[in-house]
Amino acid sequence: MVIVFMPLCVKHVLHSCQTVIPQCLQFQWLSVTFLIMMVLKIALIGLGRAGRFHLNSIRRASGIQLKYVVDLESTAAEAVAAEFGCSALSDTGPVFQDPDIDAVIVATPTLTHYDYVMAALQAGKSVLTEKPLGVSLKQIDECYQEAEKKDRILFLAFNRRFDPSFSQVAQRVKNGDIGTVQIVRTTSRDHPLPSMDYIKTSCGIFHDCIVHDLDMLRFLTGEDPEEVFAYGSNFIDSIKELDDLDTVIVQLKFASGMLATIDISRNAVYGYDQRVEVFGSRGMLQAENRIATTTVHFSEGSVQRPAIDPSFPTRYQEGYFIELVSFRDCVLHGKVLPITHADARKNYIMAHTAEESCRSGKPMKIDYGCGVSK
Ligand SMILES: NC(=O)c1ccc[n+]([C@@H]2O[C@H](COP(=O)([O-])OP(=O)(O)OC[C@H]3O[C@@H](n4cnc5c(N)ncnc54)[C@H](O)[C@@H]3O)[C@@H](O)[C@H]2O)c1
Repeated sequence: MVIVFMPLCVKHVLHSCQTVIPQCLQFQWLSVTFLIMMVLKIALIGLGRAGRFHLNSIRRASGIQLKYVVDLESTAAEAVAAEFGCSALSDTGPVFQDPDIDAVIVATPTLTHYDYVMAALQAGKSVLTEKPLGVSLKQIDECYQEAEKKDRILFLAFNRRFDPSFSQVAQRVKNGDIGTVQIVRTTSRDHPLPSMDYIKTSCGIFHDCIVHDLDMLRFLTGEDPEEVFAYGSNFIDSIKELDDLDTVIVQLKFASGMLATIDISRNAVYGYDQRVEVFGSRGMLQAENRIATTTVHFSEGSVQRPAIDPSFPTRYQEGYFIELVSFRDCVLHGKVLPITHADARKNYIMAHTAEESCRSGKPMKIDYGCGVSK
């Protein structure tokens, strides 16, 4: 990490950049105000769809310096490196050996997460990793144990927790604004359909997509479901050939009596459909889809509204940014890690049990103390 001393004249610039500088790090010396600005030096591994939204957040965030980009595709890495004035690599060796690097963002295909996360932690780097963290509870546990051993941050990127609308719903539920929660619904329909190359190595719809909704249910309500029943269908032949599903309904029951449904599709032709609804004894909270403009065209016999966000990079751009800033603050300023080892474990167990329910065609109890062996 680098500490930069800044004179007073640039203080307003930092404020406009939403820089988080704790009071204790601001001091006065010989009547001249200085700020201590800590800078997180990072490497980004993977420059595909996820890597690109992280780059957008890095462009906007203060206190973060991108030193390396790593991708197997060297031309992609070189183009990004030219923009950011950093080094382009096709393997991570130099990143892990560089003592100047504080943290690594892992945005590579799912099956590579465990190896990169472990290697980064073993090299003493903090990590923000795309979901899912691992393909088994054993891998998840090993990563968090390594983070603890090395006293480093391991931040699992459940980005929807940082979406301003969803986090406002969670806060209002917590405040008791809608009384006792009775029903929660999440809708996540993807757009555009990801490539078959992506889906092939995604670990399936439960661990690739439904994990977000399962995390959202716990985030919105503060409760853990105790029973799950999932139905799945295939409307897309190429997904069926992979023994995966493109359309799933998950139903969950909680100890309090609360019920939840998750409605998932790999492909909504009208855009990236992301909604949540929480119904309680004193009202209902909804977070609707976002639209870029509010212009509505009324004409004879029709009303036209703008389309919803086309995909995740725009829909969740604010959430991705807040997530990155939160990671920076965990590493630099010791802020509380928002997504814990217990969250990652429970999420994996829920997704695994939902998938088992779907395959068996039966409702299943969710055993959080279990040894899920897969
Ligand atoms: N949180 C979200 O909203 C969100 C959205 C999309 C993807 N993701 C996650 O991000 C991860 C990446 O998904 P994506 O859609 O960006 O995939 P992608 O296929 O678009 O991009 C992957 C990138 O990684 C590079 N790559 C592949 N293997 C590599 C390796 N071993 N080392 C270095 N680089 C390598 C590829 O060249 C490519 O540029 C997945 O795990 C996915 O679950 C999360």
